[in-house]
Amino acid sequence: MKPLFSEYSQTERALVFDGENISPILPYRYKSKGLGDDIPAATGSISVSGAQPKLGVCLKNGQLHISEPGEQSTHILKPCAGARFALNYDMPANELFCMNMVASLFKIPAAPAALCFFNDGVPAYLTRRFDLLPNGYKRHVEDIASLSETEVQGDSLKKYQGSYEQLAAIIAETSDAPLLDLRTFFKLVLVNYLLCNGDAHAKNFSMMDNDDGAWRLAPAYDILNTRLHVTDSTFAMGAGLFADGKVCPKGGMKAHFTEWAECIGLTAKYAVKEINRTVAYLEELLGQLKKSYLTKKAQSVFQYHVRHRFLSLK
Ligand SMILES: Nc1ncnc2c1ncn2[C@@H]1O[C@H](COP(=O)(O)OP(=O)(O)O)[C@@H](O)[C@H]1O
Ligand SMILES: [Mg+2]
Repeated sequence: MKPLFSEYSQTERALVFDGENISPILPYRYKSKGLGDDIPAATGSISVSGAQPKLGVCLKNGQLHISEPGEQSTHILKPCAGARFALNYDMPANELFCMNMVASLFKIPAAPAALCFFNDGVPAYLTRRFDLLPNGYKRHVEDIASLSETEVQGDSLKKYQGSYEQLAAIIAETSDAPLLDLRTFFKLVLVNYLLCNGDAHAKNFSMMDNDDGAWRLAPAYDILNTRLHVTDSTFAMGAGLFADGKVCPKGGMKAHFTEWAECIGLTAKYAVKEINRTVAYLEELLGQLKKSYLTKKAQSVFQYHVRHRFLSLK
């Protein structure tokens, strides 16, 4: 494989690398059965379950480096998953595209991200850590699953148990600006639905202490169109939107989301306005998709599924 580009745009440099001119090529090979042998074994990898291993990365002399044990990482690397997933090489570009749309089109704070490549051309997703301040101070971050009283440590399926209504209740209880964070959460759940992210579980939303010391919803992360790679359910949370497991009446997704907004403490007026504003972005989104790094095949599957979701909210 060949890397898709050899340098970052000005915007990416500014958002992801503090303006530094960083090479997008990692000084390591990637092997299809996992990562290449030339990556240090005990790296600063973050232990989370998921399709891909996560590796801590830091910048040295214009190069991306997998962090050594004990070395503070500034970025997180998600190499593309193995061939057991359909269109696996498209996974990093898929996540980059979705994250960029969340931030630029839907205007929801999201972790800055870029693509990078192993030196044999295999792509990886790279995100800048939002929990790290320039002075090295680490912000306190807790995912919603760990804020839930019912969380059982070590049970990896627990994060799918419950509903978005219950996640909203945890946000409302713990946030220092509950109304603002509930609105952001509403938009995020809506956008996850529209982008066909079937893995928006309780560990993919977090609370964080922000610059003013207030406890707030953290920027969005881990959003991709999972339909490209697996056949999963519409909502990651087992019960769906509502705690009582209420399902959407046929053709009634707009009413379903509006009712859910009221149920979590927002108004129907707010929900309808947000839904209308968001679904109006379909053509813009599909235009941006054509300019993305996804392959033509992946773009066509992406478009097919996402168009259906947008139309269900008209
Ligand atoms: N940009 C980021 N800054 C800080 N922490 C992050 C960032 N992106 C992800 N994380 C943390 O790393 C964990 C794993 O990342 P995630 O993208 O969710 O990977 P996976 O696809 O394996 O679930 C997340 O649950 C979150 O706690
Ligand atoms: Mg995750």
